[in-house]
Amino acid sequence: WAIHAPYVAAINTLKKQRNATILAHNYMTPEIFHGIADVVGDSLQLAIEATRTKADVIVQCGVHFMAETSKILNPAKMVLMPDMGAGCSLADSITAEGVAQMRARYPGAPVVTYVNTTAEVKAASDICCTSSNAVQIIRALDADTIIMTPDKYLAQNVAAQVPEKRIVWWDGSCIVHEQYTARDIREFRDWNPGTRIIAHPECPPDVVAEADFSGSTSGILEYVSRERPERAMLVTECSMASNISDAHPEVEFIGPCNMCPYMKMITLEKVLWSLHTMTTAVEVDPAVADKARLAVQRMIDLSA
Ligand code: 13P
Ligand code: SF4
Repeated sequence: WAIHAPYVAAINTLKKQRNATILAHNYMTPEIFHGIADVVGDSLQLAIEATRTKADVIVQCGVHFMAETSKILNPAKMVLMPDMGAGCSLADSITAEGVAQMRARYPGAPVVTYVNTTAEVKAASDICCTSSNAVQIIRALDADTIIMTPDKYLAQNVAAQVPEKRIVWWDGSCIVHEQYTARDIREFRDWNPGTRIIAHPECPPDVVAEADFSGSTSGILEYVSRERPERAMLVTECSMASNISDAHPEVEFIGPCNMCPYMKMITLEKVLWSLHTMTTAVEVDPAVADKARLAVQRMIDLSA
């Protein structure tokens, strides 16, 4: 922490001068999560917070689609991205043309799009979802067949919980969560009996089936805080265990984890530079933003 202290102090001072707020995803490193964030959360919580903030400037400590969502919800505010290269394999997996192809293949079926997508893809969709509200959104839609894009594993995990609906999906996946296999998890459990296994719903369904609990990143945080297992394995991005263990030193986190190379592009140095130079501002074409906002707002309204 000593090496981070000068950056943390400088960022916190500059943040006040700029009337900026820092929205940080749960996958940020501990020095960002605990040191400079004004709000931490999962994708849904950060999107909702973006609608409430009174700050003039939002610094998004997360990946590009999260900053775009904040901009879509706050077109008049400046939304800064400390590194524009922080993308997401799911967002890269589909374009608006892909959504059109799905609509052509399943005429009349509504399109539910994961927030891990570009503004153009959101604009081409009927409603968005996150990992914390996907089941709720699918259940609420008055349709027998529903298209989910772009995460096939999230779609398959939702389909298992809502068997009364026919869910069809796009062939996208997360490079972090797709690496886990059910066999690895079974072997880990055999070698470490009693360990609570907790998986994000971007994992393949057979991995989720091996877990004791599955939920969004904040769902995972709440589960660990509530249950306080003696030992836990988080089948998700590595920073989750680091961030939770600071609040719950009584829980021992064991087992392998995977790093998201995009989330890890956001560093204290880049946040400081971003606030110092007021770069780089995320822009979304206003016509695209208007359509995308409808899909995001429908999700927020249905999640209330
Ligand atoms: P959450 O909405 O659960 O925070 O997930 C976002 C994400 O990108 C996980 O990989
Ligand atoms: Fe995208 Fe996966 Fe990284 Fe989340 S963990 S930002 S889904 S690549």
